[in-house]
Amino acid sequence: MPQTKTTLITHPFDMIVFGGRGDLAKRKLLPALYHLDHENRLPQDGRIIAVSRGAMSRDAYRQLVREACATQLPAGQFDEETWRRFSERLDYVELDATATAAYGALSDALAGREATVRCFYLATAPELFCPIASSLAAAGLVTPVTRMVLEKPLGKDLASAQAINAAIGASFSEQQIFRIDHYLGKETVQNILTFRFSNALFERVWNREAVDHVQITFSEKLGVGGRGGFYEEAGALRDVVQNHLLQVLALIAMEPPVTLEAESIRDEKVKLLKSVRVLLPGQVETCAVRGQYVAGDVDGQARLPYRQEPKVSPSSNVETFTALKLFVDNWRWAGVPFYLRTGKNLALNASEVRVQFKSPPSVLFAAQCGPRLDANSITLRLQPNEGISLRFNGKIPGASMQLRPVRMHFSYHSEFGAYTPEAYERLLLDAMAGDATLFIRRDEVETAWNIVDPIREGWAGKPLTEREFYPAGSWGPKAAADLLERGGHAWRNPQPTA
Ligand code: BG6
Repeated sequence: MPQTKTTLITHPFDMIVFGGRGDLAKRKLLPALYHLDHENRLPQDGRIIAVSRGAMSRDAYRQLVREACATQLPAGQFDEETWRRFSERLDYVELDATATAAYGALSDALAGREATVRCFYLATAPELFCPIASSLAAAGLVTPVTRMVLEKPLGKDLASAQAINAAIGASFSEQQIFRIDHYLGKETVQNILTFRFSNALFERVWNREAVDHVQITFSEKLGVGGRGGFYEEAGALRDVVQNHLLQVLALIAMEPPVTLEAESIRDEKVKLLKSVRVLLPGQVETCAVRGQYVAGDVDGQARLPYRQEPKVSPSSNVETFTALKLFVDNWRWAGVPFYLRTGKNLALNASEVRVQFKSPPSVLFAAQCGPRLDANSITLRLQPNEGISLRFNGKIPGASMQLRPVRMHFSYHSEFGAYTPEAYERLLLDAMAGDATLFIRRDEVETAWNIVDPIREGWAGKPLTEREFYPAGSWGPKAAADLLERGGHAWRNPQPTA
């Protein structure tokens, strides 16, 4: 995943966004496309066609996109000159995606541009993926230069993911399918392989000989907000663990790829995911924790309990927090626990990986410092305050021999300046350019479902218990602390600054 080239799009394109009025399009996709235009990275002949149910004039759609871009982009990035150029690209097609007969409207919009790179972006519920793919094929809209971009989550379990993959595969070749996990578009996530494999220092200790355990934390201060309906179906396990967390785990733990080509990297990720030990029914209780937020406050602001959020059932048992203890059963990692956790309405916004090394022998300093010295760790902060830090013991200046942990820190901001491109910008460019390196292959997504399905099945039909609720603004339920305590470990919570 290290960047070997800068993606350049010089050919004309049609980007057709199903769900063009939805939350993802407004918050992420359209602002990312606008910003690419702002940076002169889109060819002149590139069109963006939003598809959605409900009548709307082209002008009204442009106004909606203008508001979305102006609100979502950082201050100073929205200007009238770019907007004039960008708005000319935008069109709107009213279409009920489930009605095959209705696709004539889209055919009309695409007529005469069969040789143009065509990207169908499905920013819709996964239930619509199959009907859309088959209707596109039936309407003759799939050309050899057509690509299909699918938003996560791909299905809701292994069986539905397999069904989607089979249905899409009937009309599109695997090379034409781009399954998105936007974490792979983040610079810091791409840097994981660079960090591991372009330095002689770290890889030598990246194994069971030196590593005690690994903690991967994705914590969010936001609750589910207006996404209650979606979340009731998804929960944290499907929303974040099956994709973002397992992808980061794969990059942290995989073997070096043979080359930096898409297939080599994806081969190694699949191999790693296949070596994650799948939990047996009796192990779910001891190795997987779920939680749900109740009332509390985040940064002094009162938060509702999950069960009172809009579109959420008052007796919902859906998890807004998950913590897992996983093992990677291969030569490198045998016996090393990988702890993963994620949650909504937690104390801090932070995504980070902490590689915790084994404790040093205490023979020299035991008299002064007690039997256990602080163990070294490397923390890769994926966001915000992106950076990497190394924690080690140092002597406190003075006549007596006293030690304490100190840190060496690399910060993206100090080293490379403030701007790191939005993940979606990179992914949209790569999809248009046909570069699949940062997208998920069919066997990869299915292997990931195979890991999470038994966990969901283990929780099914069991109401949440007292120790699984957590107040908004905390670090999660008591059960999550117990999970690590049983292995003699404790969560190291991310700090506000990396
Ligand atoms: C999305 C999830 O995939 O990732 C959201 O659906 C989550 O629930 C989001 O908030 C987090 O993305 P980021 O880039 O803000 O860390």
